[in-house]
Amino acid sequence: MTSPEILKAVEILQNQGLVAFPTETVYGLGADADSDKAVEKVFRAKNRPFNHPLIVHLAHKRQLIHWASAISPLALKLADIFWPGPLTLVLKKQPHVLDSVTAGQNTIGLRIPQHPIAQALLQAFGRGIAAPSANQFTHVSPTTANDVRDELGNAVDLILDGGDCEVGLESTIVDMTQDQPVILRPGMITKAQIQAVLGLPVLSRSQEVSAIRTPGMHHIHYAPVTATQLIEHADISGFIEKLKPEQGAIVILFRSEIPITHPQVTLIQMPNEAASYAHDIYHTLRQLDKGNFKQIIIETVPGNGEWEAIRDRLIKASNTG
Ligand code: TXA
Ligand code: MG
Repeated sequence: MTSPEILKAVEILQNQGLVAFPTETVYGLGADADSDKAVEKVFRAKNRPFNHPLIVHLAHKRQLIHWASAISPLALKLADIFWPGPLTLVLKKQPHVLDSVTAGQNTIGLRIPQHPIAQALLQAFGRGIAAPSANQFTHVSPTTANDVRDELGNAVDLILDGGDCEVGLESTIVDMTQDQPVILRPGMITKAQIQAVLGLPVLSRSQEVSAIRTPGMHHIHYAPVTATQLIEHADISGFIEKLKPEQGAIVILFRSEIPITHPQVTLIQMPNEAASYAHDIYHTLRQLDKGNFKQIIIETVPGNGEWEAIRDRLIKASNTG
């Protein structure tokens, strides 16, 4: 039976309202993907430029052909293996898909999330839900219902509370409209996993020259408000030794032991395992942003495997570069 909370959410969506909902990656700000009016509200609530397309979320794979056309066998393979889950496929869109959703492009980003509340909402609504991450444009994505409230306040009609998001980073986005698959945004489903399923090499955005609007192209994206800087582990002790009083309170997120302490420095131990690090990082940055720190220093992480997505977001969060 559908819960009263889900029924209320469906009613809001049917009336062109906005519902924030948990997914396994981050919270989404959902609107009826068939309503220009509702989709426009999403952009306004987030202060998001209209040239950044939205991902449409679906409950079932059978809805895929309603939204996408010319779906290749390889794209279907990824859908079969990774959906429901933290993967977004960029495919050729069907003609009816709103320009407001796709930013006028001929492609559409589609995802079937796994989170039970997202699933319950999508199944009860029965249609596509356009949903970007439920944060102000350029801010860190929210991973709890409270984070959504902090970001959007009254701009959202209802927030479905599903606790904290298991994955903690946004989905892997794969463009399946080119000759070769291209990862537009790394995520916790890794390039190696995708290549293993497809049995062929996959490109990453940095290797590709393209005019299409891709994620995180803004210089500051996924960023805390506090000045944030990445530092190699080997350079942290030197940084601390050279601190001057006027630099104020500093917080350092570290993974491996730091041998010295300093009265201006708060040290926070981050997990050494990628999945746990990903789960914690956005919420940690958000909490630190509320503190009185002058600067957030983050120890760099490896750039391969599951760490690739984390490193990507940390680079985007470091707004001093
Ligand atoms: O995990 C996620 O993907 C979360 C949850 C809520 O599903 N959503 C999310 O949405 O991160 P958003 O809007 O914050 O990021 C989606 C990114 C945007 O940077 C957008 O440019 C890109 O996906 N995107 C969407 N449609 C696209 C398309 N047709 N072609 C290229 N990029 C696209
Ligand atoms: Mg976002």
